Amino acid sequence: MDQILTGLLMREMKMKVLLTRKLHDFAVKELRKRYNVEINRGEIPMSKKDLLSKIRDKDGLICFPYDIVDSEVIDAAKNLKAISTYSVGYDQIDIKHAAKKGIVVSYTPEVLTRATADLTIALILDLLRRVTEGDRIIRHNKWETIFGPYDFLGTDLYGKTLGIFGMGRIGKAVAKRARGFEMNILYHNRHKLSKIEEKDLGIKYVTLKRLFEESDIITVHTPYTEETHEIVNLQLFKRMKPTAFLINTARGKIIKEKDLIFALKKKIIAGAALDVFQREPIDRKHPLVRMENVVLTPHIGSSTKETRRKMAKIAVENLILSLSGKNPRYVVNTS
Ligand code: DGY
Repeated sequence: MDQILTGLLMREMKMKVLLTRKLHDFAVKELRKRYNVEINRGEIPMSKKDLLSKIRDKDGLICFPYDIVDSEVIDAAKNLKAISTYSVGYDQIDIKHAAKKGIVVSYTPEVLTRATADLTIALILDLLRRVTEGDRIIRHNKWETIFGPYDFLGTDLYGKTLGIFGMGRIGKAVAKRARGFEMNILYHNRHKLSKIEEKDLGIKYVTLKRLFEESDIITVHTPYTEETHEIVNLQLFKRMKPTAFLINTARGKIIKEKDLIFALKKKIIAGAALDVFQREPIDRKHPLVRMENVVLTPHIGSSTKETRRKMAKIAVENLILSLSGKNPRYVVNTS
């Protein structure tokens, strides 16, 4: 009897953790060994109402880029000690408010750098060589001409100038890959890199304006913050060459979507490839979805088997360390 009571008591004393969607089985198993785990089986992303009610008694939270963990959610979570986001971006979390409340916030950088850089290159190739557009032509039975001098022409990567906006881990990984295509690489970043690093990567620092003026392809890799909110807007599009392309695998809100649609319609720029949007999932009736000179992917920057497993492992480790009062492997704030 005593044993049963102790067992019940232990279970009762276990910390409570909320997962806003299912993670890999091995990761859930690790969590269940230690905590009472609740996994959202309802809508994804969770509605605010659900999140507010489910977070109330939780000690830990594992969330995803689309779960808005704002001050209201944080205030509703009376026992919350740790938030672990399954992403490198953490703009969906009110970091300052979490810090005020002594909540440790952790994230999963590094492991997804290569996957995101690979997708960026895939999008550049797709856009310039019109891969998805070609696929649509065949599927819609519109393949009427071939090999004429002006038929279905794309653009060479060789010798073109790639402008990288944001030279953190992912920006650098993109630069390394772009060199393989013999492109010229310009970059803009809050901080200029050291001369040695610039030489190693074969990149040149320019102002944001020059980046947009001189590049044939602009790729965005800056984090989303108050400063970068809709920083890529009509003013910058007007500086771009009419033959230039825009790629975004960072965050949708860095680009003023309304302006991008205008720039694409008016042929101020030639095309765009986007993995992230102001609102995700993007509406089927969104104007971008109807444009031929646009390639769209559903926020899959980190979406490879290998990378997603690594992210799950780190997200779980981060949470376990935070809830046991230790420093997580990758901390955003130290509360
Ligand atoms: C992240 O981790 O922030 C990425 O956007 C996910 O692909």
